[in-house]
Amino acid sequence: MNEDLSGRTALVTGATSGIGRAVAVRLAAAGADVIAVGRSHERGEDVVAEIADAGGSARFVAADVSDPDGIRALVEAVGAVDVLVNNAGLALWGPTEALAVEDFDALFATNVRGPYFLVAAFAPGMAERGEGSIVNIGSMAGSVGLPGSAAYGATKAALESMTRAWATEYSPRGVRVNSVAPGPTYTAAGTREELEAWAPSLPLNRVADPREIAELVVFLASARGSFATGGTFPVDGGRTAV
Ligand SMILES: NC(=O)c1ccc[n+]([C@@H]2O[C@H](COP(=O)([O-])OP(=O)(O)OC[C@H]3O[C@@H](n4cnc5c(N)ncnc54)[C@H](OP(=O)(O)O)[C@@H]3O)[C@@H](O)[C@H]2O)c1
Repeated sequence: MNEDLSGRTALVTGATSGIGRAVAVRLAAAGADVIAVGRSHERGEDVVAEIADAGGSARFVAADVSDPDGIRALVEAVGAVDVLVNNAGLALWGPTEALAVEDFDALFATNVRGPYFLVAAFAPGMAERGEGSIVNIGSMAGSVGLPGSAAYGATKAALESMTRAWATEYSPRGVRVNSVAPGPTYTAAGTREELEAWAPSLPLNRVADPREIAELVVFLASARGSFATGGTFPVDGGRTAV
């Protein structure tokens, strides 16, 4: 039950920044052959170079996960994967009355429909081979009420609900499906000041480093998480415990 992922292919969406980048780097360090997905070629090549410099294996494939055609092209380009990390996400916060219909739809297209059709594309192959691991990146906003988070939080609650359903659908055939629900984490999702404003509401009273989220993702992706499926695991400095 070690975390060795040699010989395994791991696809990480949103690997060009923040949590996804940390996950891609950490999965490669565990031996996985990483497919880093995002829209920015420049940042994609940058993460691939970081992995290669550390002796790992990775390639960048550009795709927009909010676009069903983009997902189809991605699936055709990569073939089978053993680990799928649905990390790409759009985070729009603000007063309910200020959210435009297009932004509401974009939230659900990126955070819910994208992961849904990626699982639809990859989970059946994992099930046929009798093993695989899917990790969805939720959020503490999916389980606690926070002002300005109604639509974003709903996308994460939906992702966590799908995680439970997918566990019942695919785990009998060897595919584990889990969610990791981060709290505030230093990424491009917010300025330092915006993120640090959350700290006093967390028992740990600080913001996370993306690598702290990646640790649990790799645990769940590897054999170390062999009896975990259908769960949503908070890595939120204790916020959802209070
Ligand atoms: N940071 C936090 O405090 C926090 C807390 C809880 C949950 N989360 C969740 O963690 C995940 C990662 O967020 P982050 O904070 O690391 O954000 P980030 O630094 O802004 O990175 C977001 C990533 O998602 C990709 N992405 C966004 N829309 C995409 C699309 N339509 N198609 C393909 N890729 C797309 C971006 O890549 P490109 O720009 O290259 O497309 C980028 O790599 C998200 O699901 C977010 O909701 C973050």
